[in-house]
Amino acid sequence: MDSFELNKIFGAVLGTLLLVMGLNIVSEIVFSPAKPAIPGYDLPGAPEASAAGAGAAAPAAEPIAARLAKADVARGDKAAAKCRACHDFTQGGPNKVGPNLYETVNRPLASHPGFNYSAALKAKGGNWDYQHLDEFLENPRKSIPGTIMAFAGIAKPEERADIILYMRSLAGSPAPLPAPEAAK
Ligand code: HEC
Repeated sequence: MDSFELNKIFGAVLGTLLLVMGLNIVSEIVFSPAKPAIPGYDLPGAPEASAAGAGAAAPAAEPIAARLAKADVARGDKAAAKCRACHDFTQGGPNKVGPNLYETVNRPLASHPGFNYSAALKAKGGNWDYQHLDEFLENPRKSIPGTIMAFAGIAKPEERADIILYMRSLAGSPAPLPAPEAAK
């Protein structure tokens, strides 16, 4: 067998392989099997909620007043690290990407001097009471559509309470805590 013949044999083998691969690709295009996102079987009667988007299945949070009673200032101080990229929390501190947040609890929305608030926040009105803060921090853009606070929010209800209790402590005379029975 000379090398020319060997080449022909290799060529034939290679050609067959290419043909098989090609057929495979073509058949996949033609028949495009629908692959499930998660391998497995659909069980009949699976609960609807599991198919719903994240958040929909989240357990209902306790009211903020009840969570504040169990919250911890030191934990909140630590958790607020993610706010400090944009906010200064110290008395007389500067506005950064977001406004200074000293003495925020119960102050009117969009009222810190020298900060250029969004029209949405300015239009909202009211004070930053515990309830408002809790809602805003859970999902800023859902709570105040059009806010320029580019922050996804804090999903954990306990973590929000820790941060809010920490914010409450940053004041000459901290706002009174709500009575837990007012939480209903
Ligand atoms: C990516 C930057 C960014 C991060 C991170 C961020 N904020 Fe903000 N925040 C802003 C901006 C910008 C505004 C002004 C929003 C507007 O005008 O719509 C704002 C506004 C606020 C306000 C309203 C203040 C006022 O005077 O009315 C509060 C309260 C607040 N942020 C709390 C927080 C807390 C607490 C965190 C951390 C859990 C946080 N923010 C994280 C940028 C940020």
